[in-house]
Amino acid sequence: MLYTAVAALAIATTPFVRAGSAVTPPAGSPWATAYSKAQTALAKLSLQDKVGIVTGVGWNKGPCVGNTSPASSISYPQLCLQDSPLGIRFSTGNTAFTPGVQAASTWDLDLIGQRGQFIGQENKAAGVHVTLGPVAGPLGKTPQGGRNWEGFSPDPYLTGLAMAATINGIQGAGVQATAKHYILNEQELNRESMSSNADDRTLHELYAWPFADAVNANVAAVMCSYNRVNSTYACEDTYTLQTLLKNQLGFPGYVMTDWNAQHSTVQSALAGLDMSMPGTDFNGGSLYWGSALTNAVNSNQVPLSRLNDMVTRILAAWYLTGQDSGFPSVSFSRNVQGSHNTNVRSIARDGIVLLKNTGNILPLKTPSSIALIGSATIVGAHANNSASCSDHGCNLGALGMGWGSGTANYPYFVAPYDAINTKASSIGAKLTLSSTDNTSAGASAASGKDVAIVVITADSGEGYITVEGNAGDRNDLNAWHSGTALVQAVAAANSNVIVVVHSVGAINLEQIVALSQVKAIVWAGLPSQENGNALVDILWGAISPSGKLVYTIAKSPSDYNTRISSGDDNYSEGLFIDYKHFDDAGITPRYEFGFGLSYTNFTYSGLSITSNAKSGPATGAVVPGGPSDLFQDVATVTVSIKNTGAVTGAEVAQLYITYPSSAPRTPVRQLRGFDKLSLTAGQSGTATFNIRKRDLTYWNVASQQWVVPSGTFGVSVGASSRDLRLTGSFTVS
Ligand SMILES: *[C@@H]1O[C@H](CO)[C@@H](O)[C@H](O)[C@H]1NC(C)=O
Ligand SMILES: *[C@@H]1O[C@H](CO)[C@@H](O)[C@H](O)[C@H]1NC(C)=O
Ligand SMILES: *[C@@H]1O[C@H](CO)[C@@H](O)[C@H](O)[C@H]1NC(C)=O
Ligand SMILES: *[C@@H]1O[C@H](CO)[C@@H](O)[C@H](O)[C@H]1NC(C)=O
Ligand SMILES: *[C@@H]1O[C@H](CO)[C@@H](O)[C@H](O)[C@H]1NC(C)=O
Repeated sequence: MLYTAVAALAIATTPFVRAGSAVTPPAGSPWATAYSKAQTALAKLSLQDKVGIVTGVGWNKGPCVGNTSPASSISYPQLCLQDSPLGIRFSTGNTAFTPGVQAASTWDLDLIGQRGQFIGQENKAAGVHVTLGPVAGPLGKTPQGGRNWEGFSPDPYLTGLAMAATINGIQGAGVQATAKHYILNEQELNRESMSSNADDRTLHELYAWPFADAVNANVAAVMCSYNRVNSTYACEDTYTLQTLLKNQLGFPGYVMTDWNAQHSTVQSALAGLDMSMPGTDFNGGSLYWGSALTNAVNSNQVPLSRLNDMVTRILAAWYLTGQDSGFPSVSFSRNVQGSHNTNVRSIARDGIVLLKNTGNILPLKTPSSIALIGSATIVGAHANNSASCSDHGCNLGALGMGWGSGTANYPYFVAPYDAINTKASSIGAKLTLSSTDNTSAGASAASGKDVAIVVITADSGEGYITVEGNAGDRNDLNAWHSGTALVQAVAAANSNVIVVVHSVGAINLEQIVALSQVKAIVWAGLPSQENGNALVDILWGAISPSGKLVYTIAKSPSDYNTRISSGDDNYSEGLFIDYKHFDDAGITPRYEFGFGLSYTNFTYSGLSITSNAKSGPATGAVVPGGPSDLFQDVATVTVSIKNTGAVTGAEVAQLYITYPSSAPRTPVRQLRGFDKLSLTAGQSGTATFNIRKRDLTYWNVASQQWVVPSGTFGVSVGASSRDLRLTGSFTVS
């Protein structure tokens, strides 16, 4: 019943009424079998068992960051929930995978999926049932947002596909994935008190969009966020949990709280919360469920049917991922790395974006003398898991990820110096290291060398740690440690300067770009443990750079229309974040969304469009993710791409859609397709973009439906959001 649009609308008006029974997923959905097993198991459980399954045992009361109680009658274990989105936190045997933003920068869904698969394999081998990732919130509307790097991109289409690929990888390996943080959790400042007040269309088209992909990929769990939504805490908000997530998106899995994001016993239960994590606050207090939930059920403030629904959802996710047989016990000292570092290296490398390359200074040929400059060139407290830098809460030495709960220990760390020193030895080049940010030492090292490589950084993280005055969110968009001044000093001493940036997000590059001595800017992102190896792969051209920016680098911080809010945030910019704002306001960025150079050239030709799209609302029965027709292909676009340069390279061709004028005000162009082709010199290939019905819709607030507007849709295909090589259109009636 729930899985029809009609039922969803009916329930929307009476959100707490569950008709005394749990949801029934559509036949054919992988959830159907899982639900039937869960319902059989439910019948064997006592009230105490049920409450134990939905309530964490309390902070620091079990082996994992989150643990629930076992139920022996159904051989249900103490569930282990563990950070983080890039690997197993607090473990000594894990791989430190690249952050999400680096994975997105590859635009390579195979690598992103493999990353998810390896994360899943490591978690399973460590006995973790539920991994607390991937991240689609923050989406990254504000460049300064402290945790943007944990997720993928401020573009919801790109983030959505990255979420789905990651979840398929994790769950295919037998581990439950958690899409987080739901929803409108875009900054660290006041995150546990502020209210995010987005309008309904922005909520659907931007912030909920990638969560719909997650649900469509059958994600087991969704984590509600700390912030309030329209003044109501996200973990007790009926509209976003019950109406949007469970009814409109047809989410069959369970909603868990962020850690200590629960504020009520009854309201959260009635709003659609299914699991309390970690069950208490960080001092063992604030026990909202457990015995309090038992009392609420006994006094019928929370219907037993609602508790049964919570338990059914949690058990179904456990069956869905095959965890009811042969699941390993928990251990965080087992070596579970396998050869997963190949994925780290590939993503660290293929996520590198070449921003500038004057006179083709890169790839490096055979310099006889090289200066390597900056504190981020060598292993320091960040990279050596120093106790003085817990959760990587420092920016000392080479950088591989941001800080906070979204991190993991490094099993090893190859810093720029380590890899460049090896390379320099192998080609007989003399390497001079200046491993501080001291400008005169840097200039002196650079003087007289064939090339000077300067490594600069910017860092951010979760708000419970303050690093160099940045309480999670970044205070500004400057390079840290006076990185710009260091580059200027080196440029005064050497006219072949290569700037390498390891950063959580956009920084102001204007003074660096303006220096004629800076011949190359290598945007190396957050490469995790393979930092130096990935850099050498690109600097010496073992592989041509193929990453593209997943956010806009502006000429001025004031060109962005979003800020960290000191109080509540009304999301008044609506849909117009990142490149959508720059396009709409006619502002030229320094480096646009989707931009990235390579060591070869690609030409685009032969745009072909076929469409059988029809205007009108999506009316299919609701499947996980929304009405089923939203996920059906309605148009296909192909273009021919030729590598016209001299070396093998990969091109990320991007497709942007312009809506017809019959739609309400919409961004000038929105990413709705991409395809990454690897081509040898002279080779041609076909980029194919499959456009789903969803990709042509807007959220109609009045009818509460996804609607394809009638009229002519513009199609632009190119090498970035502004380097549009081919345009065409198709008409929908
Ligand atoms: C917040 O409230 C406004 C006004 O009632 C409404 O239009 C909007 O959809 C709400 N947003 C969310 C996220 O609930
Ligand atoms: C880690 O780095 C810190 C800071 O540079 C240093 O003091 C410490 O000795 C290092 N520890 C190891 C084990 O390398
Ligand atoms: C920077 O290095 C120079 C020598 O290259 C030294 O004289 C100076 O004291 C250093 N400055 C700082 C702040 O360490
Ligand atoms: C948000 O909107 C409300 C209601 O319109 C208004 O009272 C408030 O001042 C706005 N807040 C900000 C930070 O703009
Ligand atoms: C790409 O083409 C441009 C001119 O169109 C040329 O200047 C550049 O050298 C070419 N780059 C490569 C790597 O072939």
